[in-house]
Amino acid sequence: MTAFATTPLLTAEAVVRRYGSLVAVDRVDLRVADGERHALIGPNGAGKTTLLDLIGGATRVDGGRIRFDGRDITRLGPARRARIGIGRIHQRPAVWPSLTAVENVVVAGWHQAGGFRGVRTRARYRRRLREPAMALLDRVGLAGVASTTAAHLSHGERRQLEIAMALAGRPRLLLLDEPAAGLSGVEVHRLAELLAELPRDVSVLLVEHRLDLVYALADTVTVLHDGRLVTSGEPDEIRNAPAVRRAYAEAVR
Ligand SMILES: Nc1ncnc2c1ncn2[C@@H]1O[C@H](COP(=O)(O)OP(=O)(O)O)[C@@H](O)[C@H]1O
Ligand SMILES: [Mg+2]
Repeated sequence: MTAFATTPLLTAEAVVRRYGSLVAVDRVDLRVADGERHALIGPNGAGKTTLLDLIGGATRVDGGRIRFDGRDITRLGPARRARIGIGRIHQRPAVWPSLTAVENVVVAGWHQAGGFRGVRTRARYRRRLREPAMALLDRVGLAGVASTTAAHLSHGERRQLEIAMALAGRPRLLLLDEPAAGLSGVEVHRLAELLAELPRDVSVLLVEHRLDLVYALADTVTVLHDGRLVTSGEPDEIRNAPAVRRAYAEAVR
């Protein structure tokens, strides 16, 4: 039992995803509470990305149900899910390479600002979109490169930018798929700080190989192996669980 056993924001009930005869996600139950930092770990091929895809709506379930904020979202598409508060960071940063950093965040925040109608004048554009975008860039540590085109940012900066873009959609749940992948030591440190400083009105579901990052951030850790949920609990329980050691040992054999 964790401190977050109450009020689930997200509930996945017995979700299944098959690829031919392979069961990539096999009747997995998952709850993410309001404000919780929930990490999803497991060896390569465990089904972590697939589970994030099922929650974000990029992939449809073959079985089970997904609820978000008290509502059944199992049949909603990814754009609808984004609009009701599910934000997504991909395994490879997805930014617009020819736009500047701040333009990327403006585009990402467009819907939340009310689309065209809200920003008909230059002053309104600045107030409703550009200023909030600059504030987000500042928050992720990119204020100094706001006018740099995304193609010229480092991999770590593009990762930070994608987080600012996700935040521009004002998510209540942020899905992060291996955000530390490909980052330098300094960049991982910056990322860890950035994630630790996210306000608690954003819940986080984090897939990450860097277990130091996971154990530093997570309130709850869920372990997947071969599409199945192995165990779920507080970081200290998980770190010492024999079933977890077995899952990783089997994977490296
Ligand atoms: N689009 C797909 N088509 C076929 N098999 C897939 C597809 N996506 C994932 N898989 C398979 O599903 C399993 C889980 O993959 P994935 O969710 O990417 O694992 P993880 O992110 O934990 O490494 C793997 O065996 C993978 O090869
Ligand atoms: Mg993956």
